[in-house]
Amino acid sequence: MNRVLVTGGAGYVGSHACKALAKRGYIPVVYDDYRRGNRWAVRWGPSVEAPLEDRAALVAAMRDHRVSAVLHFAAYAYVGESMQSPSIYFRNNAAMSINLLDAMVETGVKALVLSSTCATYGIPAALPITEQTPLAPVNPYGASKVMLEQLVHWYGQCHGIRHCALRYFNAAGADTDGEIGELHDPEPHLIPLVVDAALGRRAFVSIYGTDYPTADGTAVRDYVHVADLADAHVLALRYLQSGGASAVANLGTGCGASIREVIDAVSLAVGQRPGVIEEPRRHGDPPALVADPSHAQQLFGWRAARSDLATIAASAVRWQRDFLPEIMRQQALPEFVRAHAQHV
Ligand SMILES: NC(=O)c1ccc[n+]([C@@H]2O[C@H](COP(=O)([O-])OP(=O)(O)OC[C@H]3O[C@@H](n4cnc5c(N)ncnc54)[C@H](O)[C@@H]3O)[C@@H](O)[C@H]2O)c1
Repeated sequence: MNRVLVTGGAGYVGSHACKALAKRGYIPVVYDDYRRGNRWAVRWGPSVEAPLEDRAALVAAMRDHRVSAVLHFAAYAYVGESMQSPSIYFRNNAAMSINLLDAMVETGVKALVLSSTCATYGIPAALPITEQTPLAPVNPYGASKVMLEQLVHWYGQCHGIRHCALRYFNAAGADTDGEIGELHDPEPHLIPLVVDAALGRRAFVSIYGTDYPTADGTAVRDYVHVADLADAHVLALRYLQSGGASAVANLGTGCGASIREVIDAVSLAVGQRPGVIEEPRRHGDPPALVADPSHAQQLFGWRAARSDLATIAASAVRWQRDFLPEIMRQQALPEFVRAHAQHV
């Protein structure tokens, strides 16, 4: 069986990738210390509870599970937090990935798919953003991912590890079967915040900046369904495993949506509008980020298939309204009751 180590597999994007891997006959081996992940999201294979800081545990996980490749999601991913605490971003996202790369060298694992981000581009001079757009991050989060890309490039040159760096735009939505979805604490992402506000679970949602040079004055982003991102990882993995050369690819739709358009789509899916407060722009927030995703299509045949705003909003609403409360209820049960429930 084709076993793949998935760092950060208990997180939002990583857990959806595990499900996509399992569907295609791979066995995902989650490597996560749950500092920001969810135990209930690990359900498609074995798991190792350990941090990237523990190089020996990485080597053991790769050896014991005889993995043939690595998908690397584990990181911190909040722009605002990175402005307040840059050191934890450089340490976790860049420096700790050296342990992962060293463990790959030690165990002879040669294929790596890693999470990068549109934050590597900063505030681009022109849209859409291609892989040739200069990398010019405007926050430590984006800079830490540029460093990560450089690390994997040099481990490729020196040790023959081939990689695909996938620069995602805004991950959004949830598994359409309702098995997994987004849950962060605190939640920094727009769509879950809008859903909660529309469901009346929070008082309002803030719009930061209404005077951008965009059609309705609010910031425009390229939202891509998390299940489409998950599929891209499987395709990138197959590409590498069939001998493909190291590559970088944007993962987006090529279409931007403004914050007001997101609020409209979620309101339609919920059947009611959230309270909204308009606030000043946040420092370093670009007016618009939209991908040119054509390289991912040429390279490994990926296209976003379920990333229209209505589908994203509907899946996010179903997850937060219908599925997540039941998962939370189960989690609140004592361990022995949960274990029993799984066996009857
Ligand atoms: N969510 C997005 O919109 C988005 C966009 C672009 C790029 N990305 C990238 O995708 C990846 C996944 O993002 P996400 O939204 O799923 O994040 P997430 O916070 O939901 O998941 C990250 C996971 O990594 C784990 N982790 C973090 N540091 C670790 C460490 N040192 N050792 C072990 N485990 C560790 C956390 O416990 C968590 O389970 C990140 O690398 C992020 O930078 C995300």
